[in-house]
Amino acid sequence: MSLDTTALNRRMTHFDAHEDFWLFGYGSLIWKADFAYLERCPAHIVGWTRRFWQASHDHRGTPEAPGRVATLVESPGEHCHGMAYRITPETLAPLDHREKNGYRRVVTELHLDDGTTHEGLVYIASEDNAAFAGPAPEPEIARLIDTARGPSGANREYLLKLAAALRDMGHEDAHVFALESLLR
Ligand code: SIN
Repeated sequence: MSLDTTALNRRMTHFDAHEDFWLFGYGSLIWKADFAYLERCPAHIVGWTRRFWQASHDHRGTPEAPGRVATLVESPGEHCHGMAYRITPETLAPLDHREKNGYRRVVTELHLDDGTTHEGLVYIASEDNAAFAGPAPEPEIARLIDTARGPSGANREYLLKLAAALRDMGHEDAHVFALESLLR
């Protein structure tokens, strides 16, 4: 799959006719909401685990020295906690641009902390995308995160802000917290 997923995502028309719908964020979308939204609510999805297995060439690294950012890998029964945003279809264009380095729009069921369940959208960088780095020992991932930097800033900032946001929401994530301690 080509590195830039913008065109592929535009072909996914599932939400185009909706007045509004929920977006689930599990990485930088938790702590950097620089897009228009109507309301937000902590939420989780089932069957996925967060992993720093996606290379970042455009935000937290460069093509020469890619960083590592979060994606989701299938994990039956696991809960992945994050933040849900109610958005309108107009917000998809800026989101597609932001998530263009390998992430695809995926329809998912999401569970808001207010007890309601909705069909929603999540951006996932699956293992067939050109920037998928895959599993590696956590000390190795932490070393890359420690030094990488891209147009959006230091890779460390991405990881540390995500760990702080998860802690603020009262959620454990062993992988994220292990990377955080290795960085500190
Ligand atoms: C997300 O946060 O939901 C996707 C990955 C990212 O933008 O960091």
